[in-house]
Amino acid sequence: MQRLATLIRKVAETDVTVLITGESGTGKELVARALHLLSPRADRQFIPVNCAAIPAELLESELFGHERGAFTGAVAARAGMFQLANGGSIFLDEVGEMNPPLQVKLLRVLQDGDVRPLGAEKATRVDVRVVAATNKDLTREVERGAFREDLYYRLQVVPVAVPPLRERRSDVPLLIEHFLEKLNRARPERPVRISDEALAVLFDYEWPGNVRELEHLLERVVILAEGSVIGVEHLPAAVTSFTVRKKAVDPTLSPQGVDLRSAVADFEVGLIEQALRRTRGNKQAAARLLGMKRTTLVAKMQRREMPPEPIAYHSVA
Ligand SMILES: Nc1ncnc2c1ncn2[C@@H]1O[C@H](COP(=O)(O)OP(=O)(O)OP(=O)(O)O)[C@@H](O)[C@H]1O
Ligand SMILES: [Mg+2]
Repeated sequence: MQRLATLIRKVAETDVTVLITGESGTGKELVARALHLLSPRADRQFIPVNCAAIPAELLESELFGHERGAFTGAVAARAGMFQLANGGSIFLDEVGEMNPPLQVKLLRVLQDGDVRPLGAEKATRVDVRVVAATNKDLTREVERGAFREDLYYRLQVVPVAVPPLRERRSDVPLLIEHFLEKLNRARPERPVRISDEALAVLFDYEWPGNVRELEHLLERVVILAEGSVIGVEHLPAAVTSFTVRKKAVDPTLSPQGVDLRSAVADFEVGLIEQALRRTRGNKQAAARLLGMKRTTLVAKMQRREMPPEPIAYHSVA
């Protein structure tokens, strides 16, 4: 994400077309807005267009505008999003949903900045920075002929890939902190915080809906938590059962047999290390995760010759 931030800052200074890819809820729109706000166009319009939400037959006139009488019901001329965004940026969200005839028109705009409203005799020149996003694999769409190859290359002059949350789990605690702060600011009479155990469960979860799923989950949980602390018991079953499933181990006895004692030791050390990493070395909290007293944990760590200092477990695996 830090590399991504550097890339955004660098690309924002330029006018090149950017294609943002990533799963749903990873923050593609946020990246698009950042590209605009960090650009010299920041004081001009940022116009988002969701290509999937607008019916195909309307999208052309929405994007490029139309003349009076261009079609039934076009009682007056109307400017399109490209004209409105002149001097600023346009964000073509879900660009993979655009139909082929429109793809041709878009390509023309990208190539020479000429926009021709529906029913217009001639084109007008616009100065618009284009940022597009998709959660589809556009290379596959190109392969199966649903997306024009020339447009694809023209769009992704600079490709920006936003990674799924499960591939950057160290963001989970930071995002939780960010969202809780926001939620607490909105209702200062009952601020809530999250317990170490609940944090650990959220850290391990797969987040198929990415940051959006995390944001919505916290909104709900903050309401459900009666006290001031969000515990594991407040988390949805889908989230907690995921961690339980992941924890279930299925040891196999190889034909050569196994040294049970050292296998058990490995198992124990592995779980203790995980618990300590999750709690950033907090032995009290780690012991609770393992269902034992702090003194028992310390004794086990000594017996297994594990480093006692909390700092040894601060790296986030
Ligand atoms: N790094 C982040 N910090 C804070 N909030 C974030 C971050 N990334 C995403 N969000 C929030 O998560 C939500 C989803 O982000 P966004 O709408 O940008 O996702 P998206 O990739 O466009 O999703 P979709 O493909 O479903 O449209 C938004 O509310 C956004 O503000
Ligand atoms: Mg989006």
